[in-house]
Amino acid sequence: MREHPIELSVNGTEITAGVEPRMTLADFLRDKCGLTGTHLGCEHGACGACTVLLDGEAVRSCLMFAVQADGTEVTTVEGVAEPDGTLSPVQSALRECHGLQCGFCTPGFVMSLTALLRDNPDPSDHEIREGLSGNFCRCTGYQGIVAAARRAAETQSVTQR
Ligand code: FES
Ligand code: FES
Repeated sequence: MREHPIELSVNGTEITAGVEPRMTLADFLRDKCGLTGTHLGCEHGACGACTVLLDGEAVRSCLMFAVQADGTEVTTVEGVAEPDGTLSPVQSALRECHGLQCGFCTPGFVMSLTALLRDNPDPSDHEIREGLSGNFCRCTGYQGIVAAARRAAETQSVTQR
């Protein structure tokens, strides 16, 4: 099948590639960019494991074609920590608050929470649960994840003072 040229930024790196029109953004990130932190659970938009930021918005990368990401800026879970490896407030809080067990869902939660707290730095529990309603976790019962969201919000508000 004919490949289409695309140019996009992934975690700050400019990438030019040829992709088949049917290739999803998730497969592009995992198979062409080697960024396997973006996980595939359901592959039909239900679980949120494949969530990435596209021009800052949390999107399900299994529901998008790579050609649709032409000209955009994509951030995956690999691009969330500082360049020296220091975890982001969301990542640290998930670790501190036991917000993960097997970790399969975690990249998606990290990306959704990162976008949520950027747009709403002091969310209520209801807003946290609403904001995470598109991400499924089969291990944690969500309590630790919600606690991590609160903790990350506190940490961010302290560092921004
Ligand atoms: S793998 Fe994309 S939403 Fe489940
Ligand atoms: S930590 Fe296992 S699915 Fe969420």
